[in-house]
Amino acid sequence: MTSVPLQPPVPAHIAIIMDGNGRWAKQRGLPRLEGHRRGVESVRTVVDAARELGVRCVTLYAFSVENWRRPGEEVGGLMALLETFLHRETPNMVRDRVCLRTIGRTEELPSGARAALKAAMAATAHFTDYTLVLALNYGSRTEVQDAARAYAAAVLAGRASLDDAASWEGFSRHLYTHDLPDPDLVIRTSGEKRISNFLLLQSAYAEFVFTPVLWPDFGKAELIAAIDEFRGRERRFGQITEQLAAANAEAEAQRPADVII
Ligand code: IPE
Ligand code: IPE
Ligand code: MG
Repeated sequence: MTSVPLQPPVPAHIAIIMDGNGRWAKQRGLPRLEGHRRGVESVRTVVDAARELGVRCVTLYAFSVENWRRPGEEVGGLMALLETFLHRETPNMVRDRVCLRTIGRTEELPSGARAALKAAMAATAHFTDYTLVLALNYGSRTEVQDAARAYAAAVLAGRASLDDAASWEGFSRHLYTHDLPDPDLVIRTSGEKRISNFLLLQSAYAEFVFTPVLWPDFGKAELIAAIDEFRGRERRFGQITEQLAAANAEAEAQRPADVII
C-alpha cells in the first residue's frame, strides 16, 4: 500500500504588486493610460483565474500613497478607471460571490471613486466564499501610523489595555488587515525586485515570486506558474525541515482511508 504524497495546497491568499503598465504602453508607443486600461483587463482575468484555482483571497496593489506624486493627468485617469471597473464588475462579483474590501486611506480618494467603492462593497459585503481586496491609497508605513493611532485611542477610551500591544494578535487587531489572513504568496510583475511599501508586516512569512512579465501581459498561465513555484518552496516558519516532515507525516496518517491507494 502506497500513499499519494500530500500536494502542497494552493495559497489561500495571494497579494499582487501589479507593475509595468507604463512600460507596456511605452513599448508600443501608446499613452501610459492605455497601459493602465490593459492592466484592468489583467485584473479581471487574474481574479477569475485565482477563484477557479481555489484561491480564497486576492489582494491587489492598485494605488500607493506614493502614487499621488505622478502627473495629475495620470492620477485622474487611474481614478476614473477605478470607477469604471467598479461599476462594470460589481454585478460579476455578486454573481461569483466575491466580497470586495479595501485597505488604505480610502477616505482621501476623490468622491466619485469613494461612492463607487461604497456601492460595490455594500452589494458584496455578505459574501464569505471569496475576497477581493483593493489596496488603494495604501502604504505600509501609513498603515502602522493609523494602527498606532487607533490603538492609542482604544487605550484612552478604556477599550484596550497597554498589555494588548505586547502580543502581535493584540496589536495587529488595529491594522487595516485585522480580519484578513496574511498573504501566503506575494507576486510582483515587471522585473522590479522591491516591495514599494506593500504589506510589509503581513508578508513577514510570505513567499515572493518576481516575474519579468509586465502586468498587462500577466494572465492565467503566469498565475499558475507562480503558484507552481510557491508549491515547490518549503515554508519553515523558523523551524527545521525534520520538524516539518514529522508534521506532514502526522497529517498524512490522519488522512481518510479512501485517498490511500
Ligand atoms: C503599475 O504600473 C500601476 C500603478 C502603479 C498604478 P506602472 O504605472 O507603475 O508601470 P511602470 O512601472 O511605469 O512600467
Ligand atoms: C507599486 O508600483 C505601486 C502599485 C503597484 C500600485 P510603483 O510602480 O508605484 O512602484 P515604484 O515606485 O516603482 O517602486
Ligand atoms: Mg511601476
